Amino acid sequence: MCGIVGFIGKAEAAPLLVEGLKRLEYRGYDSAGIATLSNGVLERRRAEGKIVNLEKVVQASAANGTIGIGHTRWATHGIPNETNAHPHATDKVAVVHNGIIENFQELRAELIEKGYTPYSETDSEVVPMMITRYLDEGMGPIEAVRLTLKRLEGAFALGILFAGEEDLLIGARRGSPLAVGFGAGEMYLGSDAMALAPLTKQIAYLDEGDWVVLNREGATFYDQDDQQVEREVTETAMSGALIGKGEHRHYMLKEIYEQPQVIGDTLSSFFNPTTQTISMPDFPFDLKEIPRLTIVACGTSFYAGLVAKYWIEQYARVGVEIDVASEFRYREAPMPDGGLALFISQSGETADTLAALRYAKSQGQSILSIVNVPESSMERESDAVLHTHAGPEIGVASTKAFTTQLTVLACFAIALAKAKGTIDEECEARLCKAIAEVPARCADVLNHDGTLREIALKVAEARDVLYLGRGASFPIAMEGALKLKEISYIHAEGYAAGEMKHGPIALIDESVPIIVIAPTDSNFEKTASNTQESVARGGRVIFMADEHGVQKMADHAVASVVMPQVDPFVAPILYSIPVQLLAYHVAVHKGTDVDQPRNLAKSVTVE
Ligand code: F6R
Repeated sequence: MCGIVGFIGKAEAAPLLVEGLKRLEYRGYDSAGIATLSNGVLERRRAEGKIVNLEKVVQASAANGTIGIGHTRWATHGIPNETNAHPHATDKVAVVHNGIIENFQELRAELIEKGYTPYSETDSEVVPMMITRYLDEGMGPIEAVRLTLKRLEGAFALGILFAGEEDLLIGARRGSPLAVGFGAGEMYLGSDAMALAPLTKQIAYLDEGDWVVLNREGATFYDQDDQQVEREVTETAMSGALIGKGEHRHYMLKEIYEQPQVIGDTLSSFFNPTTQTISMPDFPFDLKEIPRLTIVACGTSFYAGLVAKYWIEQYARVGVEIDVASEFRYREAPMPDGGLALFISQSGETADTLAALRYAKSQGQSILSIVNVPESSMERESDAVLHTHAGPEIGVASTKAFTTQLTVLACFAIALAKAKGTIDEECEARLCKAIAEVPARCADVLNHDGTLREIALKVAEARDVLYLGRGASFPIAMEGALKLKEISYIHAEGYAAGEMKHGPIALIDESVPIIVIAPTDSNFEKTASNTQESVARGGRVIFMADEHGVQKMADHAVASVVMPQVDPFVAPILYSIPVQLLAYHVAVHKGTDVDQPRNLAKSVTVE
């Protein structure tokens, strides 16, 4: 989603801004732009599409100056064209904005009344217009921004540059994250530490409602009541090196292949190889006393939570309520006294999940988050955090973040069950042994890449695809369908295999491939029966099961993927990999933009 960079220093700003924007590309965007101050005059360069287009514009017509702001825009209000691209500007001020100004129509009408003329379809443009209005009324830049911030409703992060002010950059945050980087005689603004990592490791995050005034010597922070405050400067762990694709054609493939490694890295935070046991860090709440667990997340992270519901209810016997964050945040769910609420997010910044977290906090819940991006907003607002050690995930379609989330959740389920006394030592040992084997088994699954590439040729021709699973394989069916939808643009649905007869079976004919996820577990026979019901109606089944399962369905499936024989407990982690690879190869075959699929953003910071 939209990304912001800002620079004030000694070097030419434009190349640094463009480099910073490249590091934010992974968030997803459809236009980009920069503004600099050249001899006190605002210079603006913008382009529709990828950053390479912006680079061409900057090469053709340089934007000089040692101070500037830059932006990648993911369109919300107004189509992705050059006119709607940021920075938005008047002759006095240029602004980059991430988020949505909810009352923009009202503000726009007020400004038109006062004689200001908008030129774009965006909500963002009202911000430079409103600042200009206050400047025109005689206020200084800082006061004009302070008053403008009071007028804005909605979620935003802003970077603001003023004509004639060579040593002034202002940032503001409400709802959307913003970081300040500290250098020697240079200061930076960025949507996240990733954008700033090659420039500095010294980072301070704006708190909710904060705004900050930067000059070359430092930063002055103000809180939402305009009181001057101190914000801690920390050393970011984010690597400064540009993250490459290695030998792989796409980030997504590289990230799929990293899974044995990053699952192992994640596991090592919880698994003691000497005692072969799982333990959790010290929590500021007592797992034994938790009456009920609420899990909230979005998209792929939600499916990870759904798998965890099966694990936690089965082994720890704790009731789990789970919802997508965009629904949960507004439905005023009652939450039990002493309850624990668990939020799962790769980015730690997803607007809906963050809002749901704040709601749960207001209901007196203890807050636990599972996040991949260290220092993220969710981490900072939680009582406790468990990290996935997936490393930066650049491909928009989540892969390694998902399987590392499952790894953390599996460990958490074991620890909760142990704390509750609902599993005996034998069961605990079995589950721990199963989870410890996952990295090696994942490596085995990657050997099926070639088979999945061939199966993908068949699936790529389809208009609709069904994914079926039961129990903890049901969320994997939904995750498989989501992966296929988002990167190949083929319509796909994940269903609980037992639900087929209640409607979806009507869709089946020979043109609809059916991907069945069927590890050997207590549900296998039922899933096999449901599969046969589909085959009997002309369905072309692609069966993902272990040797025993594949043999059983040999006469019915048009293709199979032979998975390793594993404890059913960890099957969801392993069966995620073939559905990722299948979606990947279908997308490559179709020639879509695998790493940055159309319309999608990596970090969804608007609701
Ligand atoms: C799908 C995908 C999204 C994210 C969702 C939540 O491949 O990546 O569905 O899972 O936007 O994002 P996070 O986990 O950052 O909260």
